[in-house]
Amino acid sequence: MIIKSEETGTELIELSKLEQVGRQFSFLMACYRCAIMEVETKIRVLNETLSQQYDRNPIETIKTRLKNPRSISDKLRRKGLPLTVTSIEENLNDVAGIRVICSFPEDVYLIARYLLQQDDVELVSSKDYIRHPKANGYRSLHLIIETPIFLADEKRLMRVEVQLRTIAMDFWASLEHKMRYKKDLNCADEIAAELKECAEESARLDARMQRIRARIEYNE
Ligand code: GTP
Ligand code: MG
Repeated sequence: MIIKSEETGTELIELSKLEQVGRQFSFLMACYRCAIMEVETKIRVLNETLSQQYDRNPIETIKTRLKNPRSISDKLRRKGLPLTVTSIEENLNDVAGIRVICSFPEDVYLIARYLLQQDDVELVSSKDYIRHPKANGYRSLHLIIETPIFLADEKRLMRVEVQLRTIAMDFWASLEHKMRYKKDLNCADEIAAELKECAEESARLDARMQRIRARIEYNE
């Protein structure tokens, strides 16, 4: 059976082919879900062991998300990439996403360091928007890592995007994200400028709180 385009009546794809692509796609998504589970566990284990070592929990929250099919195809289209299952795996680094939220900036780097030193974690690329904030004030540490998942009879390397930030950075990013999607915003420039000031103020607060914590810990 052949599927036809409703607008042009032209043949699009054979149904059996469509089923095959559907199966490949759902298998790939299952692999990404497994990769999320693996990396989330790694991070939880780190939180557990580091909390023994430092007598505090470096991680406040972990959030995970699998990119939905619509966002996947939108991104491939936007980048002019082929809309195929292979293309998703080859070209997109953020299908599997993990956000790690810490109380203090130094914990962000602590977690990143311990995660990257594991021998089955390969760093593909990183962007340090904490040391080098974006022009709008955005701060976070982004890592693209590659790690294996073990299936019934196959080992597969999967890419996962790990975003690490403080509670304050996360608070800021969620408000900024809201503004980004509000197209018809009045005084957008004014709000953007104020948000940037807030990002700087909250970075100062993060640093100050971190210094206080150090003083409490070392009892100075
Ligand atoms: P994407 O194509 O959007 O994934 O961006 P990229 O490939 O250039 O990667 P980058 O590491 O810069 O950003 C990845 C993700 O970080 C985004 O999808 C957002 O979740 C987050 N992010 C990056 N910049 C901003 C920002 O200015 N504001 C907010 N709220 N989030 C951001
Ligand atoms: Mg993204």
